[in-house]
Amino acid sequence: MINVHVLNGPNLNQLGRREPQIYGSTTLADIENLVRGKAETLGVAVTFRQSNHEGHLVDWIQEAGAQGAGIVINAGAYTHTSIALRDAISGSGVPTVEIHLSNVHAREGFRHRSLLAPVSIGVICGFGPMSYLLGLEAVHHVMVERARLAKPSQH
Ligand code: DQA
Repeated sequence: MINVHVLNGPNLNQLGRREPQIYGSTTLADIENLVRGKAETLGVAVTFRQSNHEGHLVDWIQEAGAQGAGIVINAGAYTHTSIALRDAISGSGVPTVEIHLSNVHAREGFRHRSLLAPVSIGVICGFGPMSYLLGLEAVHHVMVERARLAKPSQH
């Protein structure tokens, strides 16, 4: 079974209360429920976590890598600053999709740069909670395709 870790970085535990004009009124618990529903439809096993601490996120990325799992990550502000998260993703070789609730490219200049995007399969941003579902679908699609290509041909 395909296993995906959905990782959330700093301040995302405040969703629903935090700058609702930017991030909306949906809480992280609501998003977790939406993700679990989508995972069930896709037949994916999901681990959903949040931390305000960079090192926890590094540990969880390494854990996903060791399990051969995929990652959907909203690293929050660490997206724009963390060489440690980038190294964890590239070092573990884990298929990763970077996501954001907001369209970071329509916001302040410092949000336009992502240190994680170059080591991710791709980036989804600007769709609110739907970014999580699109991210899950994207990483699932890539992992199914990679598994298919890795199998010896039947012919
Ligand atoms: C965010 C965008 C980041 O720039 C910001 O620091 C966040 C949330 C988003 O989901 O839109 O914390 O990752």
